[in-house]
Amino acid sequence: MASRVIIDCDPGIDDALALMLACGSPEIDLMAVTAVCGNRSVETTSFNAGRILKAVGRADLPVLAGCALPIASKVPRYNLIHGEDGLGGVELPTGREPAEAHAADYITRVLMESEAGSVTIIAIGPLTNLAFAEVRHPGLLKRAASILVMGGAAFCPGNATPNAEFNFHADPTAAQIVLSAGTNLHLFGLDVTSKAVMSDAWIESFSGMNTRCARAAHSMLRAYVVQEPKLHDACPVAYLLNPELFKSESCFVSVDCEPGATEGRLLAASMSRADPPQTSNARVFTDVNRERLLTLVQGCFARLP
Ligand code: RIB
Ligand code: CA
Repeated sequence: MASRVIIDCDPGIDDALALMLACGSPEIDLMAVTAVCGNRSVETTSFNAGRILKAVGRADLPVLAGCALPIASKVPRYNLIHGEDGLGGVELPTGREPAEAHAADYITRVLMESEAGSVTIIAIGPLTNLAFAEVRHPGLLKRAASILVMGGAAFCPGNATPNAEFNFHADPTAAQIVLSAGTNLHLFGLDVTSKAVMSDAWIESFSGMNTRCARAAHSMLRAYVVQEPKLHDACPVAYLLNPELFKSESCFVSVDCEPGATEGRLLAASMSRADPPQTSNARVFTDVNRERLLTLVQGCFARLP
């Protein structure tokens, strides 16, 4: 039976690939896409979510715009890696307007009205929307079947600062609220996503597929302003499709919220390494079969327009 899923994101080129993977996989019953301030403003990320859903033929799905600022800061931490428009300047038609409801209200309503354990949340941007929902309804997030997060860097350097990964650095307080919410938490940090490197040949292969979505993916990936572009956000989606591609460790995790050089750092103590913690609160993913991951992502494009 397909997994009922909400994807919370900040499109973002790799968010776009993650959404395309989800929409090209019948194993995933995508309920809605919620957008958050992250790579770009929430106006831009929600507009982009609508454009991506229209491109994949899923303009029927609701897009909910969420938090415009981090939980504990008046200063959003955008980045230009994905270009000014957040999608590398790709030409895509405008999608449906975001719905009236706030993303956090939608997440709250779905989790409260659905049977506990029946909805999976995939969060691939800063965790502001999830944290906002949790602080208003303590215990809410535990009702999710699991929460799959792209964020953090447990045993490797960060990418926003030497200590912190972008999603956690953009809203450390939100990350700490979600990581301490007692959920079935799966954390896909840079430890695993930095291994999901897209080769030039793999990116070029999209140009030969002659479909709207493959052309859009090729255009976005070509515009990605990073060395060795990585499929960060596709990792949690791919895990839902084929967990065997990944390796993980049971850890106790928390986030450094102190302003300064270590702000947003993920603190992880592994049950399988030296000086193990008393308890664990997350699966921290540390490895992926890169070739099989790239094949899985590319394969979904055969089912996209
Ligand atoms: O560190 C990678 C994360 O930051 C991804 O979610 C990417 O979209 C950027 O937002
Ligand atoms: Ca993202």
